[in-house]
Amino acid sequence: MYKELKSYTSKIKSYHMPGHKNGKISLINEPFLVDVTEVEGTDDLHHATGIIDTLQKQISNIYHSYRTFLLINGSTSGLLAAVAAVTKPEDKVIIGRNCHKSVYNSVMLGKLNVAYLLPDYDLEYQFYKGVNSKELVTSISKRENIKAVVITSPTYEGIVSEIELISEAAHSNGAVLIVDEAHGAHYIFNEYLPNSAIRQGADIVVQSTHKTLPCMTQTALLHVSEEAVLSGRVNINKLQKYLSVYQSSSPSYVLMSSIEKGVKYMIEHEIKFEKLILETKNLISSYNQRQNKYGHWLSGNKVDITRLTYLINKKTGITGWQLAKVLRKQHKIQVELACEHHIIGIVTIADSVQDVNILMDAIDISMSNLVSNKTNTEHEFSTNKIHVKDVLRELPKVQYSIYETTYLDSEKVVLKKAISRVAKEFVIPYPPGIPVIVPGEVFTLELCNKLEDFMINGHEIYGIIEGEVQVIRKV
Ligand SMILES: Cc1ncc(COP(=O)(O)O)c(C=O)c1O
Repeated sequence: MYKELKSYTSKIKSYHMPGHKNGKISLINEPFLVDVTEVEGTDDLHHATGIIDTLQKQISNIYHSYRTFLLINGSTSGLLAAVAAVTKPEDKVIIGRNCHKSVYNSVMLGKLNVAYLLPDYDLEYQFYKGVNSKELVTSISKRENIKAVVITSPTYEGIVSEIELISEAAHSNGAVLIVDEAHGAHYIFNEYLPNSAIRQGADIVVQSTHKTLPCMTQTALLHVSEEAVLSGRVNINKLQKYLSVYQSSSPSYVLMSSIEKGVKYMIEHEIKFEKLILETKNLISSYNQRQNKYGHWLSGNKVDITRLTYLINKKTGITGWQLAKVLRKQHKIQVELACEHHIIGIVTIADSVQDVNILMDAIDISMSNLVSNKTNTEHEFSTNKIHVKDVLRELPKVQYSIYETTYLDSEKVVLKKAISRVAKEFVIPYPPGIPVIVPGEVFTLELCNKLEDFMINGHEIYGIIEGEVQVIRKV
C-alpha cells in the first residue's frame, strides 16, 4: 500500500483534500518523534489539563469560540457527539436532507424522531444549495418541542446558508443549532471568505481541518459558542462524555500536532492566502465574463471562492464524470468530486494562482476534445439523462424509522427489483456522502433509475454491492 500511495502522490496533481495537497505543505517532518501516549509531561485528550488544554484554548481564541475541542476522528466524531449531547431518545430533531451520513447515524443511534429540511436546489445543475431560513420557520411551526436543528453549511459546492436567521429561528423555538461546517475550517482566516457559523449564532460548529487546511486526514475541530453554554442549551460535561464515546481512547499526538501546525501556518501566511483568494476571484470572474460555450464557474456572494465548481453547459452533452476521467488520464489531475453536470476542485493555502490556471486550462482543453470526439450515441445517452426526474428534490415515503429498521430482517435484490420495497441500509453516492435513501424509506422507480445512472458512470455508491441493495424482507 505505502508504495502505491507514494507513487500516486508523486504523479498526480491534487485538487482534492487533504488540504496539504500531497504533502506540498508538510509541517511534521518526523511524525514518529511526536507519536507519544498519555504519560507524565504529555496530556489526555479525554481529560485535558496540560498541553492539549493549552492548544485547545489557543485555537478557541483564534476561532472566536467559547470552547474548542480537538477531534482526531474527523467531523464524523464531532457530529455524532454533538447530537448525542443535546438529545435523549425519542426527541424530535430537524436535519437538512443534505446532511452527511454521520448526522443520520446520530439519529439512528439516538433513537430520534427526525423531520427533514429540504435546502434550496439548483434545478439546472442538480445540487443542493443553502438552507433557507423560511423553510426552517415553516418546519418548526408544524412541530412542537424540536430539540435540535442540524444543517450543513457550506455545501460541498461551497454555498453557505443564512446562519444568523436560522439560528434565530432555532433559538426562539428552544432548539439547539448544530452546523456542520466540515468544509469551512479556513473561513476564519480571510474576510473575503464567508463568515464562520460560530460568529453567527450557531451553538455547536464542527469543522474538518484536514479538508481545507494543511492538516492531516481525520483532524477536525468542534467549537461551542458562549451563548450555547450560558443559556444552558449545551452542557459541556455531557458533550465531553460523548466526545470520549465517539473518539479513540488512544488519540494520536501526530494528528493533534498537525492541527496545531496547520492552524498556526494559516495565521503566519494570511497575506499569501488573501492573494490566492483575490487572484482566484479575478480569474473566475474574467473566465465567466468571456462566456465560454462549454461551461462556467460557480460564483456569488454566498459562495466560497476556494471551492472551484465548474458547471458544464448541458448543450455539450458532456458529463462531469467524463470530464473528470479525461482530466485524470490526460492531465494527471484528480478533482475532489465529479457529478452529472459539474465537477469540483479544491484550492487551499498549499496552492497558488498558477494551480488555478492549470485546472482551468486543462478543463478547457478536455472539454474541447470531449465535444469534438463525441459520438451520437453518447449524445443521446446524455440527453436522455437530463430528463431523468430529479430524485434528490423529493423525500421518499417513510415506512419505518431509521432506528426501527435496524431490527428488521432483510434480503438482497437487484436494483430494478427494489422499486416499492423498503430500504434496509443507507444508499450513499460518495462523494459527497449524502444519502439518497435512508433505512425505512421506500425505493421509487425514479430513484432506481438515477442510481443505475450513477453506477454506469462508475460513481462509487455505498449500499449497492454488485448491483444489489438490501431491502426489508416481506412477511
Ligand atoms: C458535509 C460533511 N460533513 C461531515 C463530513 C465528515 O467529515 P470527516 O471526514 O472529517 O469525518 C464530510 C466528509 O466528507 C462532509 O462532506
